[in-house]
Amino acid sequence: MPAKASRGKTFSEKKLTAEVLGRIRKTRDARLKRVMTSFIEHLHSFVRDVKPTPAEWMSGIQFLTETGHWCTGKRQEYILMSDTLGVSMLVDALNYAAGEGATQSTVLGPFHREQAPEYPLGADVSKNGTADGEPCEVSGTVRDTKGKPVAGAKLDIWEGGADGLYDSQKGDDMNLRGVFRTDAQGKFHFRCVTPTFYPVPHDGPVGRMLTATGRHPMRPPHLHFWITAPGYKPLITHLFVKGGKYLDSDAVFGVKPELIIEFKKGKDGLTRARYDFVLMSEATGRRKTRAARRRT
Ligand SMILES: [Fe+2]
Repeated sequence: MPAKASRGKTFSEKKLTAEVLGRIRKTRDARLKRVMTSFIEHLHSFVRDVKPTPAEWMSGIQFLTETGHWCTGKRQEYILMSDTLGVSMLVDALNYAAGEGATQSTVLGPFHREQAPEYPLGADVSKNGTADGEPCEVSGTVRDTKGKPVAGAKLDIWEGGADGLYDSQKGDDMNLRGVFRTDAQGKFHFRCVTPTFYPVPHDGPVGRMLTATGRHPMRPPHLHFWITAPGYKPLITHLFVKGGKYLDSDAVFGVKPELIIEFKKGKDGLTRARYDFVLMSEATGRRKTRAARRRT
């Protein structure tokens, strides 16, 4: 007879969750213990709620396995899953509360690449001219929440072409992406192509999930920014094209009204857009945390 049974302990589905939690009670890292406790509790609740058959549970495991297999150096299917389930926006919202007039953040997305080429202000990130899309000039300033220009702020920008594809999806290395730095007055300007709407990659497991749940894979026209400067919180955001398709049903839930701006085509054929970014000081959240602590 098994030792536990001899002590009168029998298996209980109701006590299983507590037993699993009991096994991790010696976890030394307090944050890991908190994360694992919540994860186990929610996962068990999910299973009790859905009551999957063994075949259904296995198909879930196969789905996650396949998602991992689709990931490469240039494709991140898990980020896509996180984005399309609204989790990326939730994590961002809980971590980046834009206060004091600061620019709103949004999702990073799966297409950012490290070591994009750095260009002088005014340069064009399009290597193929009009084959990449309609010419566009984007300009503006980077300031802090008190209106002071941020000189030398790094703007890492990237976008898809008129064909709806990013460079990494078609082997055009480092096209339609680049790094710029603001001048002494915190100003920037560069050339790119007018952003167009496009589908997130939907030929893999995440695409199947979207189809199975009656969703489209489209994102509204947008231009990505990752702005950093010493002493300020990094800002990951987009500028969306006013009047663009899919603004009200972005597949990754990334649209915020404050980030929708006019991209206006001039008589000279050049589309122009302007935006003044406002960065939060690195100390903003810390001050709030200390103030909140004092209140409690
Ligand atoms: Fe994008």
